Amino acid sequence: MVQRLGYVALNVADIDIAIEDACTVAGLRVVEREKGRALLSSNRRHAELILYASNSDSVRSIGLQAHNADAVATVRHRAEQAGLTVLSERPSLPCIDRSVTFATSEGHIFEVHTPIPLTQPVRHTGPGIRPRCLDHVNLSSRDSEAISNELETVLGLRQSERTTGHEIVWMRAADNRHHTVATVKGPSGLHHFSWEFASFDDFKRLGDTLDAQGRFLVWGPGRHGAGDNLFAYYIDRSGFLVECIAEMEVIEDENHQARIADPGENLSNPKVVNRWGALPPRLWTEHFVPFAPLITA
Ligand SMILES: [Fe+2]
Repeated sequence: MVQRLGYVALNVADIDIAIEDACTVAGLRVVEREKGRALLSSNRRHAELILYASNSDSVRSIGLQAHNADAVATVRHRAEQAGLTVLSERPSLPCIDRSVTFATSEGHIFEVHTPIPLTQPVRHTGPGIRPRCLDHVNLSSRDSEAISNELETVLGLRQSERTTGHEIVWMRAADNRHHTVATVKGPSGLHHFSWEFASFDDFKRLGDTLDAQGRFLVWGPGRHGAGDNLFAYYIDRSGFLVECIAEMEVIEDENHQARIADPGENLSNPKVVNRWGALPPRLWTEHFVPFAPLITA
């Protein structure tokens, strides 16, 4: 039912700094700016990163793009059947035709919506690295097994891979990329969100851009075992952990059985977490940002 990641919506304490950072580091451009809200995109989609001016930095919602209105209605039905709270059926943006917003049992908020319109030019100029697209989110969950079960049941996501103790579960959507939503054990919230880049050369520019601003990469570059993607992580100026990836595995086998990987103690198995060797620092393993309770009209 869910085709791909739609958007990430964040509440930010300083929206001007958040916009500046998204444009000068990741390389997004502003599509719409109005009082209290900005829509940014890296490609033809009308919105990928949505920033809301707020008192503090928190996650507002994760948008998942469904194929059509029928799929949205099915998600609504399944969410109710699963005993989850349906928060709204009012789309969060004027450019969204139909949607349903629900909360997982740990308070992660998802809006499953009809496709975001393609209103923008294919490419743009300007600063920053400039991604191809918003790629995936990795939740932080107290019970990764339970949350992944909810998301598989309600959204039709399929498990691509997990670790032996469900420390991390990776799930794919209909576009068959290894993961569109993953969840790692920790306090309930968002661990990181991710942009896909065209090539490894972009990672060099990312490191140099951060260095020129007196900042640094949190982890990477490296290659994850799960998903086989190249990765590098940084923390943006609002405190969100941002991953930059390339070369994500695509699972074309309809009969794919979820792989089960031994992560080692505290994610110490390099062949799962980073095939090139360097293990995640505490800044990565302990990171999360909570979801804000959604206030619906
Ligand atoms: Fe990731």
